Amino acid sequence: MMEELALHILDIMENSLAAGASLLELTILEDPVANRMIIELTDNGRGMSEKERQAALDPFFTSRTTRRVGLGLSLLRATAEQCGGSLTLVSQPGKGTRVVVTLELNHIDRPPLGDMGATIASILSREDPPEVYYYHQRGKEAFEFSTSWLKEQLGDIPVNLAPVLKWVQSHIDEGLKALYGGE
Ligand SMILES: Nc1ncnc2c1ncn2[C@@H]1O[C@H](COP(=O)(O)OP(=O)(O)OP(=O)(O)O)[C@@H](O)[C@H]1O
Ligand SMILES: [Mg+2]
Repeated sequence: MMEELALHILDIMENSLAAGASLLELTILEDPVANRMIIELTDNGRGMSEKERQAALDPFFTSRTTRRVGLGLSLLRATAEQCGGSLTLVSQPGKGTRVVVTLELNHIDRPPLGDMGATIASILSREDPPEVYYYHQRGKEAFEFSTSWLKEQLGDIPVNLAPVLKWVQSHIDEGLKALYGGE
């Protein structure tokens, strides 16, 4: 099992990019009262037919050509199910895809969130970075990051420059640290 949820999230975000998405909306909700964690990623990529959607959760199905098994979604689903939750795929051809993952927040097997700053920076490091909106709520507190906001700060400076990516990574890490109240 992957040790960090951030690596699974990187995986599903990479799926979105592979599907041609230019917009990625990530929501992470942590509800300690309901003991629930919800991770939701919505993209505007090419989507999947119903048949593809069902096949996508089968580790022996992949549209990649370099390797015959696709493991990203199957591994994440296994993690979710092991943690008292589930993985749901909602998709419409030509419209986009939504991945919804639920887990028991305090389940003993739930991997830690891990390095979300590195995950977002990695997604933005591509030649043609997508628009990203990331909203993270924990109890009553929330942190949000968006490339539209970032671009307002940057003016003409490209998002995918190394020093910008480094700044984005630490900005997200600091924001989440504050969200966790220095725990
Ligand atoms: N967001 C998405 N939009 C459209 N198709 C998707 C999306 N996510 C997954 N798929 C489809 O589901 C398949 C399985 O995805 P999965 O992440 O499990 O494996 P993979 O991406 O093919 O390989 P790996 O993740 O192991 O590199 C993909 O090959 C693709 O056809
Ligand atoms: Mg994948």
